[in-house]
Amino acid sequence: MCSCEAKTHQCLLELPKCEHHLHIEGSLSPSLLFRLAAVNNISLPKSEDDSSFASAEALESRYERFTSLNDFLHYYFIGMSVLITPSDFESLAYEYFTRAHKDGVHHAEIFFDPQAHTSRGISYATVVSGLVAAQARAEKEFGLTSKLILCFLRHLSAEDAEVTYQEATSLGHFSNGTVAGIGLDSSEVGFPPEIFRETYESAAAAGIRRTAHAGEEGDSTYISRALDICKTERIDHGIRLVDDENLLKKVAKDKTLVTMCPLSNVRLRCVTKVGELPIRKFLDEGVRFSINSDDPAYFGGYIQDNYCAVQESFVLSLKDWKFIAEGSIEGSWCDAERKKVLLEKVEAWALSWNGTL
Ligand code: HPA
Ligand code: ZN
Repeated sequence: MCSCEAKTHQCLLELPKCEHHLHIEGSLSPSLLFRLAAVNNISLPKSEDDSSFASAEALESRYERFTSLNDFLHYYFIGMSVLITPSDFESLAYEYFTRAHKDGVHHAEIFFDPQAHTSRGISYATVVSGLVAAQARAEKEFGLTSKLILCFLRHLSAEDAEVTYQEATSLGHFSNGTVAGIGLDSSEVGFPPEIFRETYESAAAAGIRRTAHAGEEGDSTYISRALDICKTERIDHGIRLVDDENLLKKVAKDKTLVTMCPLSNVRLRCVTKVGELPIRKFLDEGVRFSINSDDPAYFGGYIQDNYCAVQESFVLSLKDWKFIAEGSIEGSWCDAERKKVLLEKVEAWALSWNGTL
């Protein structure tokens, strides 16, 4: 749990949260990674090649020194190689939901990367069955609702993405709600969203929700191309929106949700500190955004840590936080009934903390 001593910690902890930008494979802690590697007999890089894997502690400290998105992705893809069985995926996701619940998350929309598993012989069905089992447990035990977002790896081809999309479609996973939407992640620069235009067009025609990472390391044209060409309904990261005033105004007007990940942006050196992020600008311009953890096991913080880091840098008011919380709910892909329940929780929170921030 976020251990900061700020007076606002408890207030923000109790704020009902939605998380929209969480790669479930990025919640694999070094300790679980080493445990599963032992159980599943997976060999990790030997010390001569990379001493980062000498121990969980060595790995934690390597995670503090990422130099870029690609540097992180190298470790991210090695890490997930220990996930083999449905029960591994269930443990991973259940661990995340347990932690998210403690951090005040009531609704989570989580990314998963099927191609990173099918490419090493783990079936799509194995991955999804484990995640679905964890979702059911989290809803039953914590009342935490969730959705799955299938991400395509943009460093792989459009054809590869389409094969994955067709597999999920043929299993009825989009039509029966097992998977709520599609996303696009991995290395951004050099892999613009329009590469995947055809798959996004099919998804739009079928009424499947759509998002994409854009404007994390890539410039603001990655954002405009995701919106204009791939017709995404959300933008993940989107921090470069600040470089295009007209685009920013359009995103605000259209109420497009931007899923921000402050601690991730610092760890991957997209900004030097949280205070550099355009959070005040987004609030002033009425951009709808949520605050998320991205890959919490790699970036040194879960969602509450991200909330507290934002508060420390921007000293937001109760009104600002209410705007963020309400926008996060409105921009969620849950049904209207669930949104109403969540909005009432935020209203009750604002009443009970009135005068605090
Ligand atoms: N950016 C792009 N791809 C990713 C990330 C990220 O922050 N995390 C996991 N895959
Ligand atoms: Zn991400």
